[in-house]
This record gives sequence, C-alpha cells and structure tokens, in this order.
Amino acid sequence: MILLFMPDKIAENNISSPNETAMKILIVDDEPPIVKLISSIISRYGYAFETAVNGIEAIEKAKTINPDAILIDVLMPEMDGIEATSILKKNPKTMHIPIISFSQIGDNETKIKCLNAGANDFLSKPVDPAELIIRLKNIILLKKAEDIKARNEVLMETINTVESAKKEWELTMDCISDIVMLINVKDTILRCNKILSSMTGKSYDELVGMKWQDVLKESGFTFKIKPPATIEYSHPSGKYFVYDIYYLKELETSTYAAVITLHDITERKQAEDILEHKNEELETAYGDLKAAQSQILQQEKMASIGQLAAGIAHEINNPVGFVMSNLNTLQKYTDKINEFVKIQSDSLEDAAKGLGIEGAKITGEIAEHKKSRKLDYIAGDSVNLIRESLEGMERIKKIVQDLKSFSRVDEAERKTANINEGIESTVNIVWNELKYKATVKKEYGDIPPIKCNAGQLNQVFMNILINAVHAIEEQGEIIIKTRHEDNNIFISISDTGSGIPADKINRIFEPFFTTKEVGKGTGLGLSIAYDIVKKHNGDIIVESEVGKGTTFTVRIPVVEK
Ligand SMILES: Nc1ncnc2c1ncn2[C@@H]1O[C@H](COP(=O)(O)OP(=O)(O)OP(=O)(O)O)[C@@H](O)[C@H]1O
Ligand SMILES: [Mg+2]
Repeated sequence: MILLFMPDKIAENNISSPNETAMKILIVDDEPPIVKLISSIISRYGYAFETAVNGIEAIEKAKTINPDAILIDVLMPEMDGIEATSILKKNPKTMHIPIISFSQIGDNETKIKCLNAGANDFLSKPVDPAELIIRLKNIILLKKAEDIKARNEVLMETINTVESAKKEWELTMDCISDIVMLINVKDTILRCNKILSSMTGKSYDELVGMKWQDVLKESGFTFKIKPPATIEYSHPSGKYFVYDIYYLKELETSTYAAVITLHDITERKQAEDILEHKNEELETAYGDLKAAQSQILQQEKMASIGQLAAGIAHEINNPVGFVMSNLNTLQKYTDKINEFVKIQSDSLEDAAKGLGIEGAKITGEIAEHKKSRKLDYIAGDSVNLIRESLEGMERIKKIVQDLKSFSRVDEAERKTANINEGIESTVNIVWNELKYKATVKKEYGDIPPIKCNAGQLNQVFMNILINAVHAIEEQGEIIIKTRHEDNNIFISISDTGSGIPADKINRIFEPFFTTKEVGKGTGLGLSIAYDIVKKHNGDIIVESEVGKGTTFTVRIPVVEK
C-alpha cells in the first residue's frame, strides 16, 4: 500500500519532538517501502527504531529489545498483526508495550478486531505522518502516565506501610518504662523514646543531637558501678535503672553506633529495699533477743550467786555469832587467869622471901618451869590471839553483811535503800580486784534513801568499778562521789585509766561491744547497767579523755514514797 508523506503538513502542525532521547519503536510490516517511509518519519522526530516483517518476528523482538511502542500492520504473512497483538498483550513480558495497529482506511471491522485484540490505537492507511507522530507521542505519554501512576500507587503503599511501621515502633518504644536511645559513634542521640523526655523534661527535638551522658547528668541522673559489671543509674524521682548497650554490628560503616537502654528496676529495687529493711529488722530483733537472753542469763547468774551468798551468809551468821560471843568470854577468862597467875606468882615470891634459901630454890624452880613453858609469852600472846580472832570474826561478820546487802535477793521488789551503803558493800565485794591497782577515794554526799532495787543498782556500780580497774594499766585512782541535787541522786565513778576513744564511746552500751580480749569481757556489763538504770528512770553519762581517764555518772531520780 502507498502511504502519503506530507512534510509541510507536519511543519504546519508544529509537532514537537519527544524529549526522551532514543525512544525505541518497533515497526512491523512486510512491505519494505512502508517500513522505510515510517522509519524515516519517526527518525526525524528523534525516535530510534527496529523492524520486523511479520507477527512471529515482532513477538520475538518485542521480548528482547523491549520497545517503547510497536507500530504493527494488520495484513502480514505467517502471522498477522491482530494475532501478534493478542499474543503480545497476553505475555507479561510484553503486555505493557503500547501498540498502534494500522490498516486500510474504512476497514472498520479490522479496526474493531485490532482494538479488541488489545491494540491501544489504530491508524488508517494511508498514514498521515503528523497523525502518526502525534498518536505515537500520545500513546507513549499515556503509557508513561499510567506507569507513573502505578509507581505512585506502589510508592504510596510503601510510604503507608513505612509510616504505620514507624508509628507501631514509636508506640512500642513509648509504652515501655525503659529508656531507649539510638546513638551515633560520637555519643549523640539520634532517636529516643518518650520516657527519656518525661524523665529529663526536654522535648524530643531538644534531646536529638545532645550527648546522652550530658542529658542524663543535667537531669540529675547519677550512677554507680555494682560489681562485677552492672551500672545502676538513679534519678532524683526515686527511679532506678540498669544500663545496657547493644552495638549495631551490621551498621558499622553507617552513622549508627549503638542502642543504649536504661532498664527500669524501680519496683524490683523497692522490693529489695523492703526485703533488706525486713532483714535488718530481723537481724535487730535477733540481736535484741540474743542480748535479752544473755542479760537474763547474767541476771539469773547474779541472782543465783546472790542466793548462794545469802544462804552462806545465813549459815555462817550463827556460828560467827557464838564464836564471837565465846571469844569475848574467852578474852575475859584469859584476862582473869592472867590476872590470877600474876597475883599468885607475886604472893609466891613474897612467901619465898620468908623461907630463905629453901624459898629461893622453890621460886627458881617455878621460874624455870614458867620459862621452859614460855608462860609469860603465852599469857601475852593469847590476849593478842583472842583479839585478832575477834577482829577476824568482825571481818567475817562484815563480809556476810556485805554479801547480803549486795545480793538483796530477798528484795525482788523495790524497797527503800541507801545508795551510799550499797556502794560501800559493792566496793567491799570487789575489793580484792581493786586493791592491787587502785587507791579508792570515797566522797559520799548526804543523800536521802530512795526506793529502788538495791541489788540491781549494786550490780551497776560493780560493773562500772570493774571496768574502771580494768582500764587502769598499772596503778591508778578511783574516785566515788555521791550527791543529791534537784531530786536526783548522782553517783559518779571516775578512774585514771586509759580513757575511751571517740569512735568507740557511742558503742560502749551496745550489748556484746567489748575491746577486751576473749574471755576477759563479754561486752554485756554496761548494757546491763544501762537497762537497770533505765528501769529506775535514770540515765548514765560518760565523759572520757584518752590517756587521762573516764567518769561514769549515774543519775537516779528520788522516787517519792
Ligand atoms: N572506765 C572505762 N575506761 C575505758 N574503757 C571503758 C571503761 N568502761 C567501759 N569501757 C569500754 O567499754 C567496753 C564495754 O564495756 P562493758 O562493761 O559493756 O563490757 P566489757 O567490760 O568489755 O565486758 P563485760 O563487762 O561483759 O565483762 C569495754 O570493753 C571497754 O572498751
Ligand atoms: Mg565490763
């Protein structure tokens, strides 16, 4: 078929060339002149082209060169344009390529068939070059617009997916109570979750770009390292976090360096604190129990010693009584015998003088007997022996009294007693311990009798006195003073011992606190003393200077009868 070529007409229509360079058109026709004509038209407008002579070749070439459009004739040998169009439009590899079919003018039936087979446009022969170019351009533009639209849709879908994924992650990160920060190699925050904002009072935009260490520091976070390798952060709000870092290995070359998390352990910590507190309470209760038990044991020991002492005192009292009375009588008898012996020997001497030599012989013999039996010495010494025995018995009597007064086991309840007397008996009881190391000065004031448990108070004085003598290394002094002031009785016991260092003075009343070697001190003496004094509504004050000495002052209020 002959196609008209009308270059002037094209010029008149002022058709612009396609902007795209080297748009490739596949021209399919079995008639070389037509192929030549069409190719010359389209190459004038910057299109490149390839050719095929029938439908089969067209399908093969379309697959390999993927043209931007196909211009295909209907009537061709071996496979016509309609069948080729239908195959091309069904094949996924080629279905996107726009196709313009061309055939004889007026052949409407063919035109319908072409469009039905999938052709995008139809041209009637003879082909008007201007129309050909416009249609070609339009069909390619249309195709491009469709492609862009399809790509846009895919893009929008991708954006939506990304957006909702982003939102999901943000919601996920924001709903947890742990702090999460994405940081770069320079420790700068790239992203973080909401909790960091609320803990620091800074907005997300402020936080991004700051160094994470600065952010935490500015917001009052402090940290400590808990061995072996736990870093624990605490916030002034009372929250606790455990630090962790996760390095982003796959992104080593990019700007990301690591994810830092601060895991919220506040609840765990609170539970731990409660547990620790309970443990401390338990330990204190156990300590109190132990101390109470030891005190009871100590008191029981004291009580049984007291009972024993009182029993012995009672048993000794009677024999002491009659031995003393006998000794007194014996003293009188001895005096009388000595007196009589003296009278007798004086009379004998007078009588002997009258008998002359015989008398002198008798007195000499008697003097000899007296001398050999040391009767003069015996007479003098028996007086001394009886006096010393009486003194000894006096002391026994005093010790018995002291024992009774010290233990006061018979006085479980409070009774009126004189503190000076109690101290006196206590000093006597511990005298053996005191006498080698200390001189004891007593300055007893005029104090009224008070209602107290005298046995227990004596124990207080004894514990303080024993401590005092223990504090004296070689020789020292213990001064005991009592006074009555503002309805209180003050008993102070001072020593010139080693003194108590400042770091220990607050602990001396604790049960089991001792600086003494094992076996010498249990550390209970002062805690028992403290308890007894507290029960009497009083208190104990300690003043001490290392190297100079210590004074314990016990205050007991005078209880009205
Ligand atoms: N007068 C003192 N001078 C120096 N230190 C003293 C004096 N009195 C008490 N202390 C110190 O206080 C500690 C506690 O005294 P406390 O009487 O309670 O126990 P202890 O004497 O060690 O043992 P315990 O009395 O049970 O045998 C003593 O170990 C000692 O270190
Ligand atoms: Mg002691």
